[in-house]
Amino acid sequence: MSERVYIFDTTLRDGEQSPGASMNAAEKLRLAMQLEKLGVDVLEAGFPAASDGDFDAVAQIAKRLKTTEVAGLARASKADIDRAWGAVQHAAKPRIHTFIATSDIHLEYKLKMTRDEVVKAAVEAVRYAKSLTDNVEFSSEDGSRSDRDFLCRVFEAAIEAGARVVNLPDTVGYAIPEEFGALVKYVMTHTPNIHKAILSVHCHNDLGLATANTLAAISAGARQAEVTINGIGERAGNTSLEEVVMSLHTRPNYLPMSTNIKTEEIYPTSRLTSMITGIIVQPNKAIVGANAFAHEAGIHQDGVLKNPMTYEIMKPETIGLNRNKLVLGKHSGRHALRSRLKELGYDLSDEELNIVFTKFKELADKKKHVVDEDLEAIVTEGILRIADIFILEYLHVISGTTVMPMASVQLSVNGRSVKGAGYGNGPIDAAFNTIGKLTNAESELMRFSVNAITGGTDAMGEVTVRLKENGLVALGKGADPDIITASAKAYINGLNRLEYLKSHPVQSPQM
Ligand code: KIV
Ligand code: ZN
Repeated sequence: MSERVYIFDTTLRDGEQSPGASMNAAEKLRLAMQLEKLGVDVLEAGFPAASDGDFDAVAQIAKRLKTTEVAGLARASKADIDRAWGAVQHAAKPRIHTFIATSDIHLEYKLKMTRDEVVKAAVEAVRYAKSLTDNVEFSSEDGSRSDRDFLCRVFEAAIEAGARVVNLPDTVGYAIPEEFGALVKYVMTHTPNIHKAILSVHCHNDLGLATANTLAAISAGARQAEVTINGIGERAGNTSLEEVVMSLHTRPNYLPMSTNIKTEEIYPTSRLTSMITGIIVQPNKAIVGANAFAHEAGIHQDGVLKNPMTYEIMKPETIGLNRNKLVLGKHSGRHALRSRLKELGYDLSDEELNIVFTKFKELADKKKHVVDEDLEAIVTEGILRIADIFILEYLHVISGTTVMPMASVQLSVNGRSVKGAGYGNGPIDAAFNTIGKLTNAESELMRFSVNAITGGTDAMGEVTVRLKENGLVALGKGADPDIITASAKAYINGLNRLEYLKSHPVQSPQM
């Protein structure tokens, strides 16, 4: 029997720290339910002390999940721990995750504390958390740049105080795999009571080494990996769940370790994460990128046709990427739609199905084949999005080689219809200018990208925009067979997300 590695998913906490990735409570809950279906052992739902919105989202998730542990992050302070416990206490399996930095640079410049004071704070925090629940995790922030004997001392004290899991983060993504594996081995052999706890690792990807470092740590004895879907997270991101899980799955001779992950849920979870956060997966991303299983070179295509294993080390079906997708068309009924959505993980109420069915029929009139990605886009737009202030009611664009591009737009703004028209350098510019005027938008458009969700000229266009206003950054996404409409939807979605951020401020606590 292979040994078990526990998967701790922090997409909703560290992943949410990706610039512009903020999700509302309904979106977080939807993703949390998919992560439970995926089989993650622990789900870090948020940082409850960060904002009331974060607290509420964590509390909702805690009440809903049945089998997955739900963790709330807390600095090593009573107030933060109370807040985290307040949010997770109703979970079937709650966990408090408390942390303090242990590297000299953090002690001197950030915390202004001595090593003895840090040990004391860590012990007090773990002890207090332990008085609330048996399930306490302790993290030594910037662990990879900490003095290794001090690290062992802090871990020993935290375990003695009741931590069930001790986590060693490579907070700034500085470690090199060989070095990180050696550090894990050192901690395993120089922390006298380490056998009473699970050693976890949490890597960031600043040097593109997060997965390699995590695997080196697992080889050296770590048994919990902290990861995010698609590797999203602070700066260059976190270790990606799919890369670690599929490495263990694909190379059992070298890494004889198993996880609880249902690998066929990897691709649907990746898509959902991208849809909800608005963060596009780069096409060449390992495992879940659009090109991960695409063979371009003739010699490769020939080999794959003769035997897929000539050039494929994993089967796409293993991650839930179905080559023979069920295609729905305009004659497909409500029943077929419901059962396909169910297979994709969307168990909708009758009312939600009605909304999706109407949009599905509209799309099927424009596009012969409606594939899974189209359905996901419809569900994300129609069901999962926040209650919008701005809703697109009507868009008409005139453009061409001999006319000045012009857009007429009608929006609902807080339930009241407003309309206007405007010009631009191109049809999208004209639409954005008009929408901007109608919504009194003051945001700056930082990024605009168009992606075809599926192949063919009738493919749904998926547009992502990044908007910035007074230091707030929001991503907006829109999908439609018409890319001008998709762009308008993305812009309006970004404006709605900015409004949401303005009314749900996050007092980013000093970590
Ligand atoms: O990167 C980090 O150190 C963290 C800790 C809070 C675990 O995210
Ligand atoms: Zn982190």
